[in-house]
Amino acid sequence: MIGRLNHVAIAVRDAAAAARIYSGAFGAEVSGALPLPEHGVTTVFVTLPNTKIEFIEPLGEASPIARFLERNADGGIHHVCYEVDDIIAARETLKAAGARVIGSGEPRIGAHGKPVLFFHPKDFSGALVEIEQV
Ligand code: CO
Repeated sequence: MIGRLNHVAIAVRDAAAAARIYSGAFGAEVSGALPLPEHGVTTVFVTLPNTKIEFIEPLGEASPIARFLERNADGGIHHVCYEVDDIIAARETLKAAGARVIGSGEPRIGAHGKPVLFFHPKDFSGALVEIEQV
């Protein structure tokens, strides 16, 4: 069921600044800043040959990453995103295995215009897991 690693997300206070060392020293392709008001974050993507790094910074008052940044003032790895073929089937299989979906449980449209869901870190060895239907 699980597919490729789509991205690793790193939460920071300034996503564009965080990506600068990737575009400069690493010579990676870096996207512009994309505000996602529905998710309470602004994203900047770094494209690598086999996956992406997603820098996320808080957007708005009730950003879901505000508390994470209070605890991790210098930023930190926030979640990993795996690709799946069928997000509803994946959700049901993971729920049946005891994993808890975050939020309503209904997929939302993520940063790539595709449906995403998040699962509780306590059910994944301390790492917040996102699945994305590709
Ligand atoms: Co993500």
